Amino acid sequence: MRALTVRPNAKDSLEVSDLPEPVPEEGQILVGGLAVGVCGTDREIVEGSYGWAPPGRDRLVLGHESLGRVRQAPPRSGFSAGDLVVGVVRRPDPVPCGACARGEFDMCRNGQYTERGIKEIDGYGSQMWCVETDYAVKLDAGLERVGVLLEPASIVAKAWEQVERIGGRSWFEPERMLVTGAGPIGTLAALLGVQRGLEVHVLDRVTEGPKPSLIQALGATYHTEDADKVMQSVVPDVVIEATGAAKVVFEAMSGNARYGIVCLTGVSPKGQKLDVEAGSINRGIVLENDAVVGSVNANLRHYQQAAALAKADLPWLERLITRRVPLDRAGEAFTAQDDDLKVVLTLDPAGDPA
Ligand code: BGC
Repeated sequence: MRALTVRPNAKDSLEVSDLPEPVPEEGQILVGGLAVGVCGTDREIVEGSYGWAPPGRDRLVLGHESLGRVRQAPPRSGFSAGDLVVGVVRRPDPVPCGACARGEFDMCRNGQYTERGIKEIDGYGSQMWCVETDYAVKLDAGLERVGVLLEPASIVAKAWEQVERIGGRSWFEPERMLVTGAGPIGTLAALLGVQRGLEVHVLDRVTEGPKPSLIQALGATYHTEDADKVMQSVVPDVVIEATGAAKVVFEAMSGNARYGIVCLTGVSPKGQKLDVEAGSINRGIVLENDAVVGSVNANLRHYQQAAALAKADLPWLERLITRRVPLDRAGEAFTAQDDDLKVVLTLDPAGDPA
């Protein structure tokens, strides 16, 4: 079978090569891969600045935003041949820490968790893959064209859960939210904001391409002014930050509403330096009971919440996928194009690449 592999920590090592087909172990499902999404983390791994190969090996199968179709499943597992499935990214650390022991591996405390396609376990970027039944999520049959968005949607479901739990420490009826960054995470965060009945604003740099109309189609407002101006005009109760741009992060922390909650989801490159007026930022956070929280990854509960994706408008979701590239031309998926939002690699040779 064909698989997409990289040598973590080496630059430009991306390769599509033949690997033996996997054989499911007890409790595992055998899946025919349909698609994997490409995200910033994959790009960092390909650039050689992130990622870990499995112990004793130098190459890792890339891909953590998965979608496949069950070929073979253990009896009474709840899965059967033909089901659409997505594999969960993270596995608990082996110790396990208190959080991992409770199924909250997204909150792992000792950092020894592993992640498919990212940290020490092969990913889903191959024509066939296996996954433990406990780490597979069944999707509605109608989600074949968009199910690959489930993993990014799980990240956003977790971020929203953090916001709501933190909000729940006092009276909390947020009215306005700002999403910074209209990439796939930001766009999905805006969707969940609209579904919760908030007035949603989205800030991004680009004025052209698919982003403005996708955001407007949600009934949300698209902004391209500087972050400080947008913060002043919106005064958001909730900010979901999805750019990782240091300046935007600090604007979001400074200009929000009283009892504002800022949830940071964008992983910044290291080394961004900024002159900030730290005194006023701290003063504002303290005097307004604001909260700033980081959020990464997702546990099974968040995947299940994200599976409610089926409730969203499918043609709208499909517009988030702006390019589908066949696996054998994987390099093209990693070369950014102007109007890219979510780029997806198609794995099924019989599938529709268009
Ligand atoms: C993935 C997460 C993962 C994180 C850090 C993200 O791109 O979506 O599941 O935890 O990278 O490795």
